[in-house]
Amino acid sequence: MQNLSDVLASSATPKTLQTVLTVTTNTCIAISDALKQGSLAGILGMAGNENVQGEEQKKLDVISNDMLKDALTACPAVRAIASEEEDYIVPANTDGEYFIAFDPLDGSSNIDINAMVGTIFSIYHQTGDQPATEADFLIPGKEQVAAGYVLYGPSTMLVLTTGNGVNMFTYDPTKHVFILTHENVQVAQDTQEFAINMSNQRFWSASMQNYVNDLVKGKDGIRGKNFNMRWVAAMVGDVHRILCRGGIFIYPWDNKDPAKAGKLRLMYEANPMAMLLEQAGGKAHTHTQRILDIQPEAIHQRVAVILGAANEVDKCLSY
Ligand code: AHG
Ligand code: MN
Ligand code: MN
Ligand code: MN
Repeated sequence: MQNLSDVLASSATPKTLQTVLTVTTNTCIAISDALKQGSLAGILGMAGNENVQGEEQKKLDVISNDMLKDALTACPAVRAIASEEEDYIVPANTDGEYFIAFDPLDGSSNIDINAMVGTIFSIYHQTGDQPATEADFLIPGKEQVAAGYVLYGPSTMLVLTTGNGVNMFTYDPTKHVFILTHENVQVAQDTQEFAINMSNQRFWSASMQNYVNDLVKGKDGIRGKNFNMRWVAAMVGDVHRILCRGGIFIYPWDNKDPAKAGKLRLMYEANPMAMLLEQAGGKAHTHTQRILDIQPEAIHQRVAVILGAANEVDKCLSY
């Protein structure tokens, strides 16, 4: 059985990137341990602050953000970090080679019900002789050198791409290592399962409403097959299901706040998940373009997300 360091060492992954990945995933193990303590450690509930996105922060949003920020900014290979929970980028080491953008805790509304949450990360190679600025960080997702997430579910799992397919690792708590358990994961082109928050239906574009109506009509409509629906309320859980058994995940544009393009964040959620999906043979688009081609305009930018089985994403876009 191969563990994460064996897999990284036997790949073409540069040593410095291996170090960044090791620091990131070791910190996720510490987050996983903290989550398992739950109420016993007094870490559930609200932190009493709002983040820059206008969301109420949970204590665990803040704790996991601080753990990743402290570990990564102390790593000499890291040039700067950006986080859902930080107003601005945090420059680390001017000589560092990597930018890491992360969602320290995805699905934080699930914390207090003891349901699935995760950490999502996105890594870019970027050097310079001055401390990094936000403008340096605005790199399209297609330039990511690695992306992944750690899912804190019944088992803790790492799902990782360094641009050469997608591997899944399961954390072995007796040996304190991630063991490679699913190699070169592929997503089937077709599916009969979708994930979308149906309570927002009336706020979607007419074309999105038509598409989902046709899914719900199933065999009795023009699709000619029935569809099942699932919604974890943590993107990390929904994407994990798609990587395991296929499907389509949609967080579309809606008119609740026309100024926002969608709910999910381009740099912390959409880009890393898009890289994973494409590396697994799937697709990831907004209503109008491939997510990985988007030129970011701000680190906290939001986008609509339609990702999963390639043919089903095409079908959705055809509306
Ligand atoms: P976060 O907890 O990092 O703020 O992200 C929550 C996101 C995403 O994980 C999930 O798919 C979506 O919000 C759930 O939204 P609804 O509340 O509309 O279900
Ligand atoms: Mn949040
Ligand atoms: Mn999130
Ligand atoms: Mn989050």
